[in-house]
Amino acid sequence: MHDFITIAELLTDAREQLRRPSFEIPGREAALLLGHLLGWSEAQVRARSDRRVDDDLAKRYRGWIERRCLGEPVAYLLGEREFFGRTFQVDDRVLIPRPETEHIVEIALQLALPVGPQILDIGTGSGCLAITLAAEIPAAKVVATDLSPGALAVMDHNRKQLGVADRAHGVVTDLASGLRLSGFDLVVSNPPYVARHEMASMSPEVTDFEPHLALFAPDAGRRLLLRLLETASALRPGVHLLIEIGYDQGDWLEGAVAGYPHLELLAIRRDLSGIPRTAVLRRRPF
Ligand SMILES: C[S@@+](CC[C@H](N)C(=O)[O-])C[C@H]1O[C@@H](n2cnc3c(N)ncnc32)[C@H](O)[C@@H]1O
Repeated sequence: MHDFITIAELLTDAREQLRRPSFEIPGREAALLLGHLLGWSEAQVRARSDRRVDDDLAKRYRGWIERRCLGEPVAYLLGEREFFGRTFQVDDRVLIPRPETEHIVEIALQLALPVGPQILDIGTGSGCLAITLAAEIPAAKVVATDLSPGALAVMDHNRKQLGVADRAHGVVTDLASGLRLSGFDLVVSNPPYVARHEMASMSPEVTDFEPHLALFAPDAGRRLLLRLLETASALRPGVHLLIEIGYDQGDWLEGAVAGYPHLELLAIRRDLSGIPRTAVLRRRPF
């Protein structure tokens, strides 16, 4: 025998629980999560608030609200996040794709690449960059690397789900170790770039749930960046390297690139918040 509760009652309880300083719009989150369980949009949830749901669904919903109250990101609860118009499966083995990372895709799509380009994505996580580029660029072939086998398992699911299994695949390796760099026409990367000492000032929603290998790197990611610049010496002349950087890495990177005569820094693009975000580098033609 089932009990029934109205959607309005469920939403009211959830809103109250979520009304905490760190949840800016509790009402929206409450409706979004319930909508996901019901297969409805947020608007449909609100419009149908007098309907009743059975206690199994109410129990699952309350379980989600409890986890959300403990800080678990919405993307992990839903098991998905949208990136450049596609839905990627995510879990705690991968960084949740961020909107600012879409700039790498936008820049890549403006480059004059050969037909059926070979692309390398270093530190692929969910595969959001690798898979998007494979899907957006006709006949592109993409190799995606990551140190984390768990991340590559998520990437593997996403490449099959999003229909590019024949043109994007993952390799567990350190940066691009073992790969023949001269075969690639474009390299993209969103490496970890947060300093560990910043952890205390970051949201627990990030630091308690997202993989630390994806967030933090020694020396605020500078050592990793230098290794990426070094790696670029093996690229063919004229090949671009697009790297997402930390908010405070722009000036440092400009200075660092000067030490790599094989590379030129064409631009550091800002994101929509005006923060320097994407470094556009090119292997010099000599
Ligand atoms: C900031 S996340 C980016 C994930 C994904 N590309 C995105 O934009 O959402 C960095 C990724 O690099 C991986 N990583 C960290 N150090 C690495 C290394 N030395 N070699 C390869 N991958 C590494 C992490 O496991 C993580 O998946």
